Amino acid sequence: MANSRKRHLAKTFTWRIIGTMDTMLLAWIISGNPMTGFKIGAAEVVTKMVLYYVHERTWYKINFGLDRRAERKRRMARSQEISKNIKKQHFKIDSTERVKLMNQKPCVVWFTGLSGSGKSTMANLLEAELHESGYKTYLLDGDNVRHGLCNDLAFTDEDRIENIRRIGEVSKLFMDAGMVVLCSFVSPFAADRQSVKNLVGAENFVEVYVDCPLEECERRDVKGLYKEARAGRIKNFTGIDSPFEIPESPSIVLKTAEEDPKDLLNQLLSLVEPKINFSSDVKVQSYSSQGA
Ligand code: ADX
Repeated sequence: MANSRKRHLAKTFTWRIIGTMDTMLLAWIISGNPMTGFKIGAAEVVTKMVLYYVHERTWYKINFGLDRRAERKRRMARSQEISKNIKKQHFKIDSTERVKLMNQKPCVVWFTGLSGSGKSTMANLLEAELHESGYKTYLLDGDNVRHGLCNDLAFTDEDRIENIRRIGEVSKLFMDAGMVVLCSFVSPFAADRQSVKNLVGAENFVEVYVDCPLEECERRDVKGLYKEARAGRIKNFTGIDSPFEIPESPSIVLKTAEEDPKDLLNQLLSLVEPKINFSSDVKVQSYSSQGA
Protein backbone atom coordinates (compact mmCIF):
# COMPACT_ATOMS: atom_id res chain seq x y z
CA MET A 1 0.00 0.00 0.00
CA ALA A 2 2.86 2.40 0.82
CA ASN A 3 4.07 2.28 -2.78
CA SER A 4 0.72 2.71 -4.38
CA ARG A 5 1.24 6.36 -5.46
CA LYS A 6 4.53 5.35 -7.18
CA ARG A 7 2.80 2.32 -8.61
CA HIS A 8 -0.03 4.42 -10.02
CA LEU A 9 2.52 6.76 -11.60
CA ALA A 10 4.43 3.84 -13.14
CA LYS A 11 1.18 2.36 -14.49
CA THR A 12 0.22 5.75 -15.87
CA PHE A 13 3.44 5.90 -17.93
CA THR A 14 3.50 2.32 -19.17
CA TRP A 15 -0.18 2.33 -20.12
CA ARG A 16 0.17 5.68 -21.89
CA ILE A 17 3.09 4.45 -24.00
CA ILE A 18 1.06 1.44 -25.11
CA GLY A 19 -2.13 3.51 -25.60
CA THR A 20 -0.44 6.30 -27.54
CA MET A 21 1.39 3.90 -29.84
CA ASP A 22 -1.97 2.30 -30.57
CA THR A 23 -3.63 5.69 -31.26
CA MET A 24 -0.77 6.84 -33.52
CA LEU A 25 -0.91 3.64 -35.53
CA LEU A 26 -4.70 3.76 -35.94
CA ALA A 27 -4.69 7.47 -36.87
CA TRP A 28 -1.91 6.81 -39.41
CA ILE A 29 -3.81 3.84 -40.93
CA ILE A 30 -7.15 5.71 -41.08
CA SER A 31 -5.76 9.05 -42.35
CA GLY A 32 -3.03 7.50 -44.48
CA ASN A 33 -0.71 10.22 -43.13
CA PRO A 34 2.00 9.35 -40.54
CA MET A 35 2.23 13.02 -39.48
CA THR A 36 -1.47 13.10 -38.54
CA GLY A 37 -0.95 9.94 -36.51
CA PHE A 38 1.98 11.57 -34.71
CA LYS A 39 0.07 14.82 -33.99
CA ILE A 40 -3.01 13.07 -32.58
CA GLY A 41 -0.79 10.78 -30.47
CA ALA A 42 1.23 13.73 -29.13
CA ALA A 43 -1.92 15.67 -28.26
CA GLU A 44 -3.54 12.83 -26.40
CA VAL A 45 -0.45 11.64 -24.50
CA VAL A 46 -0.47 14.53 -22.03
CA THR A 47 -4.22 14.84 -21.40
CA LYS A 48 -4.79 11.10 -21.08
CA MET A 49 -1.84 10.66 -18.74
CA VAL A 50 -3.19 13.25 -16.31
CA LEU A 51 -6.75 11.89 -16.56
CA TYR A 52 -5.62 8.30 -16.02
CA TYR A 53 -3.57 9.17 -12.93
CA VAL A 54 -6.39 11.21 -11.36
CA HIS A 55 -8.87 8.44 -12.18
CA GLU A 56 -6.66 5.76 -10.55
CA ARG A 57 -6.05 7.83 -7.40
CA THR A 58 -9.74 8.62 -7.07
CA TRP A 59 -10.75 4.95 -7.30
CA TYR A 60 -8.04 4.05 -4.81
CA LYS A 61 -9.84 6.20 -2.22
CA ILE A 62 -13.34 4.91 -2.96
CA ASN A 63 -14.62 1.79 -1.19
CA PHE A 64 -17.46 1.17 -3.65
CA GLY A 65 -17.43 -2.37 -5.03
CA LEU A 66 -14.53 -3.55 -2.88
CA ASP A 67 -15.02 -7.22 -2.12
CA ARG A 68 -14.09 -7.63 1.55
CA ARG A 69 -15.52 -11.13 1.51
CA ALA A 70 -12.86 -12.18 -0.99
CA GLU A 71 -10.15 -10.97 1.39
CA ARG A 72 -11.70 -12.91 4.28
CA LYS A 73 -12.02 -16.05 2.13
CA ARG A 74 -8.41 -15.75 0.98
CA ARG A 75 -7.18 -15.48 4.58
CA MET A 76 -9.32 -18.42 5.69
CA ALA A 77 -8.14 -20.67 2.86
CA ARG A 78 -4.52 -19.76 3.64
CA SER A 79 -4.88 -20.50 7.36
CA GLN A 80 -6.60 -23.82 6.67
CA GLU A 81 -3.75 -24.82 4.38
CA ILE A 82 -1.11 -23.85 6.96
CA SER A 83 -2.83 -25.51 9.93
CA LYS A 84 -3.21 -28.87 8.15
CA ASN A 85 0.00 -30.15 9.73
CA ILE A 86 -0.48 -28.62 13.15
CA LYS A 87 -2.10 -30.83 15.77
CA LYS A 88 -3.72 -29.52 18.95
CA GLN A 89 -2.19 -30.27 22.35
CA HIS A 90 -4.41 -31.03 25.33
CA PHE A 91 -3.41 -30.10 28.85
CA LYS A 92 -4.58 -31.20 32.29
CA ILE A 93 -5.80 -27.78 33.29
CA ASP A 94 -8.50 -26.61 30.94
CA SER A 95 -10.92 -23.68 30.90
CA THR A 96 -13.40 -25.46 33.19
CA GLU A 97 -10.75 -25.80 35.89
CA ARG A 98 -9.68 -22.21 35.54
CA VAL A 99 -13.27 -20.92 35.65
CA LYS A 100 -13.80 -22.74 38.97
CA LEU A 101 -10.68 -21.20 40.43
CA MET A 102 -11.48 -17.70 39.15
CA ASN A 103 -15.03 -17.96 40.44
CA GLN A 104 -16.47 -16.00 37.54
CA LYS A 105 -17.86 -16.69 34.09
CA PRO A 106 -15.61 -15.30 31.39
CA CYS A 107 -17.08 -13.31 28.55
CA VAL A 108 -16.25 -10.69 25.94
CA VAL A 109 -17.82 -7.24 26.15
CA TRP A 110 -17.26 -5.68 22.73
CA PHE A 111 -17.53 -1.88 22.37
CA THR A 112 -17.96 -0.67 18.80
CA GLY A 113 -18.47 2.87 17.52
CA LEU A 114 -16.84 5.84 15.83
CA SER A 115 -13.55 7.25 17.01
CA GLY A 116 -14.35 9.67 19.83
CA SER A 117 -17.78 8.17 20.50
CA GLY A 118 -16.85 7.22 24.06
CA LYS A 119 -15.96 3.52 23.72
CA SER A 120 -12.79 3.70 25.80
CA THR A 121 -14.47 5.92 28.40
CA MET A 122 -17.37 3.51 28.88
CA ALA A 123 -15.10 0.44 28.81
CA ASN A 124 -12.85 2.10 31.37
CA LEU A 125 -15.80 2.90 33.67
CA LEU A 126 -17.13 -0.64 33.38
CA GLU A 127 -13.75 -2.22 34.06
CA ALA A 128 -13.18 -0.04 37.15
CA GLU A 129 -16.59 -1.01 38.53
CA LEU A 130 -16.11 -4.73 37.83
CA HIS A 131 -12.60 -4.66 39.26
CA GLU A 132 -13.89 -2.97 42.39
CA SER A 133 -16.43 -5.78 42.77
CA GLY A 134 -13.65 -8.37 42.58
CA TYR A 135 -13.98 -9.55 38.98
CA LYS A 136 -10.82 -10.33 37.04
CA THR A 137 -10.87 -8.24 33.89
CA TYR A 138 -8.69 -7.20 31.00
CA LEU A 139 -9.27 -4.28 28.66
CA LEU A 140 -8.04 -4.43 25.07
CA ASP A 141 -8.15 -1.02 23.39
CA GLY A 142 -7.50 -0.18 19.72
CA ASP A 143 -5.22 2.75 20.43
CA ASN A 144 -3.06 0.65 22.78
CA VAL A 145 -3.00 -2.66 20.91
CA ARG A 146 -2.01 -0.84 17.75
CA HIS A 147 1.25 0.17 19.51
CA GLY A 148 2.26 -3.49 19.92
CA LEU A 149 0.51 -6.62 18.67
CA CYS A 150 -1.06 -4.76 15.73
CA ASN A 151 1.62 -2.12 15.05
CA ASP A 152 2.10 -3.49 11.54
CA LEU A 153 -1.51 -2.70 10.60
CA ALA A 154 -2.90 0.50 9.09
CA PHE A 155 -6.53 1.47 8.42
CA THR A 156 -7.20 -0.05 5.02
CA ASP A 157 -10.14 -2.48 4.92
CA GLU A 158 -7.74 -5.45 4.83
CA ASP A 159 -5.75 -4.23 7.83
CA ARG A 160 -8.88 -3.53 9.87
CA ILE A 161 -10.13 -7.05 9.12
CA GLU A 162 -6.81 -8.46 10.33
CA ASN A 163 -6.82 -6.17 13.38
CA ILE A 164 -10.21 -7.46 14.54
CA ARG A 165 -9.32 -11.07 13.69
CA ARG A 166 -6.25 -10.87 15.94
CA ILE A 167 -8.22 -9.22 18.74
CA GLY A 168 -10.87 -11.92 18.44
CA GLU A 169 -8.22 -14.60 18.89
CA VAL A 170 -6.59 -12.76 21.80
CA SER A 171 -10.00 -12.32 23.47
CA LYS A 172 -10.61 -16.03 23.12
CA LEU A 173 -7.30 -16.79 24.83
CA PHE A 174 -8.10 -14.37 27.65
CA MET A 175 -11.53 -15.97 28.02
CA ASP A 176 -9.86 -19.34 28.12
CA ALA A 177 -7.73 -17.98 30.95
CA GLY A 178 -10.98 -17.17 32.78
CA MET A 179 -11.00 -13.39 32.36
CA VAL A 180 -13.79 -10.96 31.63
CA VAL A 181 -12.50 -9.29 28.48
CA LEU A 182 -13.47 -5.76 27.47
CA CYS A 183 -12.66 -4.79 23.90
CA SER A 184 -12.82 -1.23 22.65
CA PHE A 185 -12.38 -1.07 18.88
CA VAL A 186 -13.97 1.00 16.13
CA SER A 187 -14.52 -2.39 14.39
CA PRO A 188 -16.51 -0.77 11.56
CA PHE A 189 -17.46 -3.93 9.66
CA ALA A 190 -20.41 -6.05 10.79
CA ALA A 191 -18.89 -9.24 9.36
CA ASP A 192 -15.77 -8.89 11.52
CA ARG A 193 -17.80 -8.35 14.70
CA GLN A 194 -19.88 -11.38 13.75
CA SER A 195 -16.68 -13.44 13.26
CA VAL A 196 -15.54 -12.59 16.80
CA LYS A 197 -19.00 -13.49 18.11
CA ASN A 198 -18.83 -16.87 16.35
CA LEU A 199 -15.29 -17.42 17.60
CA VAL A 200 -15.97 -16.84 21.30
CA GLY A 201 -19.55 -18.16 21.22
CA ALA A 202 -22.67 -16.01 20.89
CA GLU A 203 -23.65 -16.53 24.54
CA ASN A 204 -20.30 -15.20 25.72
CA PHE A 205 -20.40 -12.10 23.53
CA VAL A 206 -21.95 -8.80 24.56
CA GLU A 207 -22.05 -6.27 21.74
CA VAL A 208 -22.15 -2.69 22.96
CA TYR A 209 -22.89 -0.12 20.30
CA VAL A 210 -21.55 3.24 21.47
CA ASP A 211 -23.83 5.45 19.46
CA CYS A 212 -22.69 9.03 19.05
CA PRO A 213 -23.41 11.16 15.95
CA LEU A 214 -20.44 11.89 13.73
CA GLU A 215 -20.96 15.65 14.20
CA GLU A 216 -20.60 15.25 17.98
CA CYS A 217 -17.49 13.02 17.66
CA GLU A 218 -16.04 15.63 15.34
CA ARG A 219 -16.94 18.45 17.69
CA ARG A 220 -15.19 16.62 20.57
CA ASP A 221 -12.21 15.66 18.38
CA VAL A 222 -10.23 14.73 21.49
CA LYS A 223 -7.20 13.52 19.52
CA GLY A 224 -7.43 16.14 16.76
CA LEU A 225 -7.75 13.33 14.18
CA TYR A 226 -11.02 14.46 12.57
CA LYS A 227 -9.46 17.82 11.75
CA GLU A 228 -6.53 16.01 10.11
CA ALA A 229 -8.89 13.67 8.23
CA ARG A 230 -11.06 16.57 6.96
CA ALA A 231 -7.89 18.28 5.74
CA GLY A 232 -7.03 15.09 3.85
CA ARG A 233 -3.91 14.43 5.91
CA ILE A 234 -5.32 11.14 7.31
CA LYS A 235 -6.80 8.72 4.81
CA ASN A 236 -9.47 6.03 5.36
CA PHE A 237 -10.82 7.72 8.46
CA THR A 238 -13.97 6.05 9.78
CA GLY A 239 -17.01 8.27 9.20
CA ILE A 240 -15.12 10.57 6.81
CA ASP A 241 -13.81 8.47 3.92
CA SER A 242 -14.22 4.99 5.36
CA PRO A 243 -17.56 3.40 6.30
CA PHE A 244 -19.01 2.39 9.66
CA GLU A 245 -21.64 -0.36 9.55
CA ILE A 246 -24.11 0.24 12.38
CA PRO A 247 -24.80 -2.95 14.41
CA GLU A 248 -28.21 -4.36 13.52
CA SER A 249 -29.01 -6.03 16.82
CA PRO A 250 -26.49 -5.07 19.49
CA SER A 251 -26.93 -6.31 23.07
CA ILE A 252 -27.13 -2.68 24.19
CA VAL A 253 -26.93 0.81 22.70
CA LEU A 254 -25.21 3.57 24.65
CA LYS A 255 -26.16 7.04 23.45
CA THR A 256 -23.20 8.91 24.87
CA ALA A 257 -24.25 12.29 23.47
CA GLU A 258 -27.64 12.12 25.17
CA GLU A 259 -27.26 10.26 28.46
CA ASP A 260 -25.14 10.61 31.52
CA PRO A 261 -22.13 8.20 31.65
CA LYS A 262 -23.17 7.04 35.13
CA ASP A 263 -26.65 6.06 33.89
CA LEU A 264 -25.12 4.30 30.91
CA LEU A 265 -22.73 2.48 33.22
CA ASN A 266 -25.64 1.25 35.34
CA GLN A 267 -27.40 -0.06 32.24
CA LEU A 268 -24.21 -1.83 31.21
CA LEU A 269 -23.67 -3.32 34.64
CA SER A 270 -27.16 -4.76 34.80
CA LEU A 271 -26.50 -6.48 31.49
CA VAL A 272 -22.96 -7.73 32.14
CA GLU A 273 -22.99 -8.58 35.84
CA PRO A 274 -25.55 -11.46 35.67
CA LYS A 275 -23.55 -12.94 32.80
CA ILE A 276 -20.28 -13.14 34.70
CA ASN A 277 -21.57 -13.80 38.20
CA PHE A 278 -20.88 -17.43 39.04
CA SER A 279 -23.95 -17.76 41.21
CA SER A 280 -26.36 -16.48 38.52
CA ASP A 281 -28.25 -18.84 36.22
CA VAL A 282 -26.93 -17.45 32.97
CA LYS A 283 -25.06 -20.21 31.20
CA VAL A 284 -21.72 -19.66 29.57
CA GLN A 285 -21.25 -21.59 26.38
CA SER A 286 -18.24 -23.89 26.59
CA TYR A 287 -15.36 -23.19 24.26
CA SER A 288 -12.19 -25.07 23.53
CA SER A 289 -8.85 -23.62 24.38
CA GLN A 290 -5.91 -22.12 22.51
CA GLY A 291 -7.04 -21.35 19.04
CA ALA A 292 -9.35 -24.26 18.18
S1 ADX B 1 -10.33 -0.59 13.79
O1 ADX B 1 -11.12 0.07 12.73
O2 ADX B 1 -9.26 -1.42 13.25
O3 ADX B 1 -11.20 -1.32 14.75
P1 ADX B 1 -9.03 0.58 16.06
O4 ADX B 1 -10.13 0.62 17.08
O5 ADX B 1 -8.02 -0.51 16.19
O6 ADX B 1 -9.66 0.63 14.57
O7 ADX B 1 -8.23 1.97 16.13
C1 ADX B 1 -8.97 3.15 16.08
C2 ADX B 1 -8.19 4.31 16.70
O8 ADX B 1 -7.08 4.66 15.89
C3 ADX B 1 -9.10 5.53 16.76
O9 ADX B 1 -9.61 5.68 18.06
C4 ADX B 1 -8.20 6.67 16.40
O10 ADX B 1 -7.66 7.23 17.58
C5 ADX B 1 -7.04 6.06 15.66
N1 ADX B 1 -7.07 6.24 14.20
C6 ADX B 1 -6.00 6.64 13.46
N2 ADX B 1 -6.31 6.64 12.16
C7 ADX B 1 -7.59 6.22 12.04
C8 ADX B 1 -8.46 6.00 10.93
N3 ADX B 1 -8.04 6.18 9.70
N4 ADX B 1 -9.73 5.55 11.16
C9 ADX B 1 -10.13 5.35 12.44
N5 ADX B 1 -9.35 5.54 13.53
C10 ADX B 1 -8.09 5.96 13.34
